[in-house]
Amino acid sequence: ALALAGCGRLGGETSGRTLTSALRLPAPFTVPLPVPPVARPVRPGHYELAQRAAKVEIIPGTRTEVWGFDGVFPGPTLDLRRGSQAVVRVRNELSVPTSTHLHGGVTPADSDGYPTDLVVAAGRGFRPVGGHSHGGMRIDPDLWKFHPGARDYVYPLDQRAATLWYHDHRMDFTGPQVWRGLAGFLLVRDDEDDALPLPKGDRDIPLMICDRAFDEDGAFRYPSRDPSLLVRAGVDDAYMEGVQGDVVLVNGAPWPELEVAAVRYRLRLLNASNARRYRLELRPGGRFVQVGSDAGLLAAPVEHDAVTIAPAERFDVVVDFSAYPVGTRVTLVNTLDGGTARNVMAFRVARKAADDSAIPARLSRPGRLHRSDAVTTRVFDFRKSGEWAGAWTINGRPFTPGTPLARPRLGTVELWRLASDFHHPVHVHLAHFQVLTRNGKAPAATDGGWKDTVDLRPYEVVEVLVRFEGYRGRYMMHCHNLEHEDMAMMADIDVV
Ligand code: C2O
Ligand code: CU
Repeated sequence: ALALAGCGRLGGETSGRTLTSALRLPAPFTVPLPVPPVARPVRPGHYELAQRAAKVEIIPGTRTEVWGFDGVFPGPTLDLRRGSQAVVRVRNELSVPTSTHLHGGVTPADSDGYPTDLVVAAGRGFRPVGGHSHGGMRIDPDLWKFHPGARDYVYPLDQRAATLWYHDHRMDFTGPQVWRGLAGFLLVRDDEDDALPLPKGDRDIPLMICDRAFDEDGAFRYPSRDPSLLVRAGVDDAYMEGVQGDVVLVNGAPWPELEVAAVRYRLRLLNASNARRYRLELRPGGRFVQVGSDAGLLAAPVEHDAVTIAPAERFDVVVDFSAYPVGTRVTLVNTLDGGTARNVMAFRVARKAADDSAIPARLSRPGRLHRSDAVTTRVFDFRKSGEWAGAWTINGRPFTPGTPLARPRLGTVELWRLASDFHHPVHVHLAHFQVLTRNGKAPAATDGGWKDTVDLRPYEVVEVLVRFEGYRGRYMMHCHNLEHEDMAMMADIDVV
């Protein structure tokens, strides 16, 4: 087992079977969709977010303690512009250390949110448990950093307009800490995106989709991480598959509904779930026109009847509600699951309205990488290890802070061949990539554009072309199933 001591018992369920008990859940589509507040700068280019516990009403009539940026979940949206640097001061007022990562950000290594580079609430005096050990290994004590009270993260945002998100990244505890609410959007905007006639303003909506389970008192229910339970339950315990809840939240509300006009809307879909994948479809029918992927606009729009979205992926889509008669309830459903995880949210088409938006046939010039651009080929095998007490490993090795699995050169493109034994959404920090092949064939229609996370499915081999741009330093790659990440499916990547 990994460095699990001191994590506390958060309910007794194992995952997959993490169910809400004895709590009256709302009927689907009765709670209005919230839109996260937009963060206001404390002075130009400077933002402050306080991580704190707060009781909020998620299930009507019940209070749930969230650990939120500014006490809200999702955290405030940082709505920023390409090339204008933002300095975000994160103050930790929680009982646990935190590290904040900007997912999809082209960020200097020091601000990337390395898992042992922690902010600790003032006066807490946290020290790592178990003598700096992780998975039975010693971690170089120099790798632990403790910022008392607060620290600044510097985001130059010298990157294309895109839907990014920030979330906790603490060593071994990212799963439980994100589950409790430590996640929010960061939208990068630029002139190119602004100049397009895509839907804007309150017709451009970020949607953070994630599943949760609740205890009878309303608290978020997360499986016990008591290592003895894990060992007894064995490696096939559902915890190993990642934690899934039975209540689907969008922007922090259960199965919400949004009233829309019969016009086009731009929906920035983010799967912020710890482990659940969704296959999103519209009922009674309809299409998503994808205009962007994880790291910005596509070259041209792509239509999908269904969008499969793995943890941490984003799909920037346009849905045209003029296709439905006024009065229609259009539901967003998850056809990968039955039961309570089938419904996601609904849009009620309330009225007709003028629509001056359009989806141009050409969106951007993202550029295309070719196999011949790669200076090196590397293979990364994402697999459960027999050796490390069933830990999840990359190339047979559990996360070993300070010892990189690869040292790519800044300014080059590499071909990475990703192989797996399970669903592993693979995420690379700093560098964006393009999917070249899936199982030796052309990529899926939903693999297009620049990405930072790819949905690697069981026994697949996916080839991606990764471009290292921006900064040198210690970054990482990992599985974005957060329980897999916490169980060591992560590696340092040193950009040299
Ligand atoms: Cu969204 Cu390293 O994470
Ligand atoms: Cu995984």
